[in-house]
Amino acid sequence: MLTSVRRIITQAYRQHRLVVAFNTMNAETTLAVARAARQVGAPTLFEISEKTIVYLGLETVVALVRAASHEAGGRVPLGLHLDHGRSFKLCASAIRAGFSSVMIDGSALPFKANVQLTKRVVDFARRHRVMVQGEVGALVPRRRLTHLRVASELMTDPVQAREFVRLTGVDSLGVAVGTLHGPIKMFRKLPKIDFKRLRVIHEFVRVPLVLHGGSGVPVPDLKRAAKLGVTVVNIDTELRLAYLAAMRRELARQRNEYDPRVVFGPVVAALTALAVQKLRRLAR
Ligand code: G3H
Ligand code: 13P
Ligand code: ZN
Repeated sequence: MLTSVRRIITQAYRQHRLVVAFNTMNAETTLAVARAARQVGAPTLFEISEKTIVYLGLETVVALVRAASHEAGGRVPLGLHLDHGRSFKLCASAIRAGFSSVMIDGSALPFKANVQLTKRVVDFARRHRVMVQGEVGALVPRRRLTHLRVASELMTDPVQAREFVRLTGVDSLGVAVGTLHGPIKMFRKLPKIDFKRLRVIHEFVRVPLVLHGGSGVPVPDLKRAAKLGVTVVNIDTELRLAYLAAMRRELARQRNEYDPRVVFGPVVAALTALAVQKLRRLAR
């Protein structure tokens, strides 16, 4: 059942529970997430990036997520969220198309420009009762380090975060506290969450926090983060890696198969199993 992201996040925030936001990009990933959420009975978010919107088309994305939520989701609350929207135009199109939550990511802009852009999206979203996530700080690795680490000067500054939330009125906030996007962190030293920083941000900012770069972060760290205001954990890379691994395995195993559905069935099953495991460990 596709429902309001605000309702899902508000409830979880009050109860210090985690909601997993999975990036989905096609029928296989979308169905797998909906089926997993239903199996576990955990409220879950589909998050859609700009690249996926370009790949599938906005209307197709919304129709696909709606249909999968309806058929495979049963009664479990599922929400549709725009991930890393970088322009007002994209956020407004997503809102008009039926997203109940958008992220406006102005984190690469100077603080003042980030505030202005985010406030513009918040004002528009309010009129449509849509939730808005903003971001201050950036998940960029420091160059020339032998191990991966987010440069501390790029991490979210608690005072700036408080000011950002006050000036923009965002409903939730993406924070940079040590995690990174992408697969590299999973093959090298895992990123370390700066819990001291997170604790201060939580004291200063009274909105749900969103942890980007959630793939590969150990479960105990995510549980600890949940006690410090983190309500949403974003996971993309782990699904992507599982998708391609299962596809390569099936293509090798079924060399003479000519029906793609026979090849992709086990891929969807593998993705569903991964999402079930994530939801069982994190969202219950
Ligand atoms: O944070 C980025 C997400 O993993 C989406 O990635 O823009 O390649 O779809 P994408
Ligand atoms: P990962 O690359 O760690 O899966 O993070 C995804 C993300 O933050 C999407 O916004
Ligand atoms: Zn992200």
